[in-house]
Amino acid sequence: MRLTTFVGLLLATCLAAPAAMAQSAPLKSPADFAGIADEAARSRALFEEAGKVIQSPRCQNCHPVGARPTQGDDMHPHLPLVVRGADDQGAIAMRCITCHQTANFQPAGVPGAPKWHVAPVAMAWQGKSLGAICEQIKDPARNGKRSLAQIHDHMAHDELVGWGWHPGGTRIAAPGTQVQFGELIDAWIKTGAACPTP
Ligand code: HEC
Ligand code: HEC
Repeated sequence: MRLTTFVGLLLATCLAAPAAMAQSAPLKSPADFAGIADEAARSRALFEEAGKVIQSPRCQNCHPVGARPTQGDDMHPHLPLVVRGADDQGAIAMRCITCHQTANFQPAGVPGAPKWHVAPVAMAWQGKSLGAICEQIKDPARNGKRSLAQIHDHMAHDELVGWGWHPGGTRIAAPGTQVQFGELIDAWIKTGAACPTP
């Protein structure tokens, strides 16, 4: 039996099958901010709206400051104990993809998406203010050498980001939809990508 199958069966027997997914919060659209005349103030307000997604547990759990990812809406340390390891994909004997498949595994409640692994320390968000996260996301030295256009593309299309709206189990999905989130980030960039005060 493959190790992943074995772990899957093990988890299936240990964890209860999840019920229906809880309702997520709505997101405003860029048009809702048209009344803010000052462009920089409008830009900050757009990022604060997008921040409802960025600061949701679905994103934060995978952008930890320390060695361990977190789980659940209360963001408790990952159980079983796993660490990011040298390449952010787990320790040699405890790779993330041993348990996390390319899609959610509903019977055992294990979330999944292609290339499941933890965000590098440079991209850590937990415990940081939205303003600090904003500055970090714009900084090519800390955002994986991405331009603002590439940041938009990542937010709007990346599969790990997209998982936030299809988290499986009883997890609450990120607010709004990924399309709406992408539109907010696009509008934020077009208004000068101003950051809230850290
Ligand atoms: C399963 C883990 C996982 C989840 C869940 C996740 N991320 Fe990430 N995130 C990563 C990894 C890994 C990287 C680094 C990828 C790279 O640089 O190619 C990353 C990088 C990023 C980046 C790029 C650079 C930067 O400045 O941080 C953004 C933006 C981002 N994630 C947004 C989000 C948002 C928004 C959500 C929630 C809707 C989310 N992520 C959920 C793992 C995750
Ligand atoms: C031994 C199996 C196993 C390994 C290895 C593992 N995980 Fe998990 N992970 C789980 C299970 C099971 C859950 C679901 C727990 C729950 O929701 O109660 C989970 C949940 C998560 C969540 C929570 C998602 C959310 O928003 O609630 C994140 C984030 C996560 N894992 C990241 C990782 C990362 C990153 C790695 C590698 C460093 C990893 N996991 C390695 C079994 C594992």
